[in-house]
Amino acid sequence: MFFCKYITIEKYNLKEFITLHYEIFNSIIMKKIFLLIVVSCFGMSLFAQDIQLPAPQKKGGKPLMEAINQRQSVRTFSDKDLDLQTISNLMWVAYGYNREDKLVIPTAMDKQQFEIYVALKAGVYQYDAKANKLILKVKGDHRKATGKQDYVWNAPVNFIYVVNSEILDSSVECGAIFQNVYLYCSSAGLGSVVRGYFDQAELKKLLNLGEKKKVVLCQTVGYKAG
Ligand SMILES: Cc1cc2nc3c(=O)[nH]c(=O)nc-3n(C[C@H](O)[C@H](O)[C@H](O)COP(=O)(O)O)c2cc1C
Repeated sequence: MFFCKYITIEKYNLKEFITLHYEIFNSIIMKKIFLLIVVSCFGMSLFAQDIQLPAPQKKGGKPLMEAINQRQSVRTFSDKDLDLQTISNLMWVAYGYNREDKLVIPTAMDKQQFEIYVALKAGVYQYDAKANKLILKVKGDHRKATGKQDYVWNAPVNFIYVVNSEILDSSVECGAIFQNVYLYCSSAGLGSVVRGYFDQAELKKLLNLGEKKKVVLCQTVGYKAG
């Protein structure tokens, strides 16, 4: 009888022991998981802001004469995002390199005085052609700041073409940039329109451009609505 009682007490203690230690163990694991989540969120916000683009596709597309024949301005856009490959192709046709240190567009004396920004839903990025990266400049959706016409605000991609007059005070080359983008869009079945109707002061402030840099033009790209 005594022996039985002893076992019962021991069993009870053992059960209590396991429950207690299971709870402690559980709370340690939970704490570790929580810590891991916090650290990864912090890490992501610190390091995962820039976008590494896939290599641009330099072959294919419609024949040049067809692309030119179909070039036109589009002002009705679906809000569907463009994939990274298409964004990479767009950045490259706008201002990528097609030879060692030489751009796809000509610039006077090869001064390469432009900076190319792009406003996406997640933020405004600057194109780093050498690294094939989009460098985050301003977090958040600032597409509205890139134009005063409402079709701009929900289109997935809005380019901002900036000239640095400290390097060379010449904006005419911007025509080559926006025409390359127009022709790529015409070839890839996308819609586009280049735009001069935006608030210079607002964009300069947003991008922190300073005195020597100014926005020459903006350009919207996306799928045509309907
Ligand atoms: C320098 C420049 C500025 C322009 N600005 C605007 C603009 O702010 N908004 C707009 O809707 N279209 C703008 N456009 C597009 C023209 O309106 C368009 O090219 C013109 O109507 C001819 O139409 P197409 O491009 O379909 O041939 C601009 C075009 C150029 C070249």
